Amino acid sequence: MSRIKFIAGNWKENLTLAEAKALIADLSPLVAGISNVEIAVCPTFLALTTVGGKVAGTNIQLGAQNAHAVEVDGKLVQSGAYTGEVSPAMVKDAGAQWVILGHSERRQYFGETDESVNVKIRACYEVALKPIVCVGETLEERESGTTAKVIEKQVRTCFKGLPADKVAESVVAYEPVWAIGTGKTATPEMAQEVHGLIRALLAEMFGPETANAVRIQYGGSMKPGNAKELLAQPDIDGGLIGGAALKAADFSEIIKAAV
Ligand code: 13P
Repeated sequence: MSRIKFIAGNWKENLTLAEAKALIADLSPLVAGISNVEIAVCPTFLALTTVGGKVAGTNIQLGAQNAHAVEVDGKLVQSGAYTGEVSPAMVKDAGAQWVILGHSERRQYFGETDESVNVKIRACYEVALKPIVCVGETLEERESGTTAKVIEKQVRTCFKGLPADKVAESVVAYEPVWAIGTGKTATPEMAQEVHGLIRALLAEMFGPETANAVRIQYGGSMKPGNAKELLAQPDIDGGLIGGAALKAADFSEIIKAAV
């Protein structure tokens, strides 16, 4: 089965509205006409509607970097007394198709867990917002030989009890924590090994058809210079790009490496 490659830019806590508009103005002509790669940008909540207006009618899709949801008495809550939070329903209402969930920075600094990600994914499915679910091991975990165990726990818990048809439309991002923003990239072989493991786990949980439909992105210091060899691996279906997504030239080069 051939999966359409998907390159998404995670802008993190960067870019004012003016800078965001300027980046889209630079980026959109560079990638116009590319139809066999899906492209998305994920600005801050505050820039979602502005950027959404700028990418409307282009081949660039819109995503958020997080959303909040809790389950109360067996019901998913999409609004209420949760000061400072934004629900999947609101992200969808702002015009986004995608939302990044469980990014390692959210796990590290904001207490995100596999269990909370599972609730958030279900709340996204409720409003037809598609999640990009991040998993990845720390340097310590890699060096102690527990990578496979860590990834298995993350995938099993994040995707626990979810409907296969919705899982098929979801994206997993494998982001080794030690490669994020460090300039260190997993070798294509190292990344492929984990991507293959993630797909095998999804096949065990949801069947081979669903597992073959899920796009698995690689993230962690992906750049124009290393994108092609990473994207050539059989189970690497795209990239979740941090630093290089803030420069139109670099981001467009990565997208072109996926064509
Ligand atoms: P960098 O590309 O800056 O390493 O960030 C990767 C990332 O965290 C994307 O979500």
